[in-house]
Amino acid sequence: MVDEDYKADFPSEIIKEGKVQVLVPKLEAYGVAPSDYAPSKAPVFYNPVMEFNRDLTVLAFQAYQRMVNREISICDPFTSQGIRGVRFAAEIQGVKKVLISDINERAFKLAKHNVQINGLEKLVTVKHKDANCVLSCHASPKKRFDIVDIDPFGTPAPYLDSALRAIRNNGLLASTATDLAPLCGVHVKACIRKYGGRPLRAEYCHELAVRLLAGCTASLAAKHDIGIRVVFSHSSEHYIRVYAQIAYGAKKADESVKSLGYILHCFNCFHRETTHQPFGSVQCPECGSKMDYAGPLWLENIFDPNFCELMIKENKTVAFRNSTKIAKLLALTKDEASAPITYYVLDKLSGKLGLPSPSIQAFINALRHSGFQAVQTHFNTRGIRTDAPAQAMRKLLKEASGVR
Ligand SMILES: C[S@@+](CC[C@H](N)C(=O)[O-])C[C@H]1O[C@@H](n2cnc3c(N)ncnc32)[C@H](O)[C@@H]1O
Ligand SMILES: [Zn+2]
Repeated sequence: MVDEDYKADFPSEIIKEGKVQVLVPKLEAYGVAPSDYAPSKAPVFYNPVMEFNRDLTVLAFQAYQRMVNREISICDPFTSQGIRGVRFAAEIQGVKKVLISDINERAFKLAKHNVQINGLEKLVTVKHKDANCVLSCHASPKKRFDIVDIDPFGTPAPYLDSALRAIRNNGLLASTATDLAPLCGVHVKACIRKYGGRPLRAEYCHELAVRLLAGCTASLAAKHDIGIRVVFSHSSEHYIRVYAQIAYGAKKADESVKSLGYILHCFNCFHRETTHQPFGSVQCPECGSKMDYAGPLWLENIFDPNFCELMIKENKTVAFRNSTKIAKLLALTKDEASAPITYYVLDKLSGKLGLPSPSIQAFINALRHSGFQAVQTHFNTRGIRTDAPAQAMRKLLKEASGVR
């Protein structure tokens, strides 16, 4: 039954997203000064730009539900106005229960109202609790969820432990991180503190960010004898997102710990390599400079091509505002799944060599023609994943601009 008495005590409006309509803060009332970030100024957080993130989440959770082929339960403990959880219940087939919660009382009341106006009271429970508290209350085996979606302000790190404990065997953990300054190497100490790994301001720092979050998840999971497998990840706008399937068992946990390691990087010649071993000062094998490093972080796959394919299939069955953009992202990630770790950004290399930057497709063709694997990455519109060493990249770039 709709609570006729609910009246938002702040400017609000009804918006439509996916298959639902929800009441949200009217952002024009909050982004007054140019420096104002309206979503955070509003009494209840709402960011329309995150529709893309929510659309992808609906597709990923549906893909997961198809993969496990049973009814699933989902927890959205940072629900804000409730749009995420409401969409999960209304749009994903095979959902038996959704629990949404927020620590902000006005968010809780608004989320409850949004569940009601969509007639989803039977499927969606709304709580007004701290996320770690909600998750810890669901740590016993019979109470665990199939999926937990961590979508906080900034870093998900303080919530990963309780999220992992609240997920059943073979369940899925989705986490968003918006603290890209630490993860991309601007605030090194903060990254080490939050994620237990060193970031690096290399041109592929967004991939490193995904690997740092995945690595942190794997280390936390291992304590509980849980292993992880990253099925999908992406970097978009101001955030990164990682989807990891978990599996109980000491052996599984050992395997994912083995997937942790370091990426060594030469800022002089762009050479990079991975290592699982502790190391001292390492010289670049290509130019002899001292190499820098990132990690410990996740060195295993950050996309599963089969999972990407399932998402591609689901995307064809919906008509989201973002469907075309999503199709492009998924096609890229599917190709990236079997490509080498890290990517080169053409403009960085050509800039360092003082050369003009070639067209990305022409350069991919040149790499392939020389016998190398080469695919574009979704992380950067000018980025290429390839098994070509930095030396070969330099040689081909010179050839592309007619320099010998
Ligand atoms: C980024 S917003 C969530 C956005 C929402 N998931 C969406 O898609 O629109 C983060 C939300 O987490 C809530 N929050 C912050 N700290 C929390 C905590 N410790 N426990 C529960 N909720 C919290 C905030 O009130 C805010 O509504
Ligand atoms: Zn070097």
